[in-house]
Amino acid sequence: MFRSRRLLAVFFFCGLICGAALWSVFDGSMHPMARAADEKPAAAAPSDAEQLRAEMAMFMADYHTSNLWFAARSENWPLAAYYWDKVTVHLNSATAGDPTKQADLAAIKAALDRSPVASIDQAIDKKDLRAFGEAYRNLLQGCFNCHKVAGMDYLRPRFPVPPSSAIINVDPKAEWPK
Ligand code: HEC
Repeated sequence: MFRSRRLLAVFFFCGLICGAALWSVFDGSMHPMARAADEKPAAAAPSDAEQLRAEMAMFMADYHTSNLWFAARSENWPLAAYYWDKVTVHLNSATAGDPTKQADLAAIKAALDRSPVASIDQAIDKKDLRAFGEAYRNLLQGCFNCHKVAGMDYLRPRFPVPPSSAIINVDPKAEWPK
């Protein structure tokens, strides 16, 4: 009994690890934003698994972009830089894709180019909260531009409201845990 339970636990964790590994392999190519660029209205409907992956990936984009805002607002610049890195991974994978789909990607890239991604970098580097606010506003516009290109103008982002991450302390002066 004990032995089979242990075996079960081992299988369970192997499953988790394999799942996570597969996720990281497919996340780039199956990213919803990339998928948005890939899909024509005539394309076959995505499978449930694809849809779930897409939603999970966007959920993460949502989470990281929100966390970025709260970190910067607390002027915790190293944490803001950390989250911004995560957001740029989503943005990069959104515009990477099949070269045969370049026409669609060009539209999406043009939408993103209107959002001054570089100015978020600069604001974080300079620890400039005012510049960050302006750049973040433009980033949200860039997010929305792409949702519009994808025919989803009902996905309208806003400045995030708390709570974002409930467990990561954005206070740069926090002293606990030591
Ligand atoms: C390249 C295009 C593109 C860009 C850029 C983009 N998105 Fe999206 N986003 C999509 C598409 C397509 C969906 C719908 C995904 C689905 O559920 O099939 C989506 C869905 C979402 C959702 C809803 C997820 C859910 O199912 O609950 C959120 C939240 C979101 N995006 C946030 C963002 C944020 C924040 C940014 C900017 C940092 C951003 N997106 C940039 C294309 C994009």
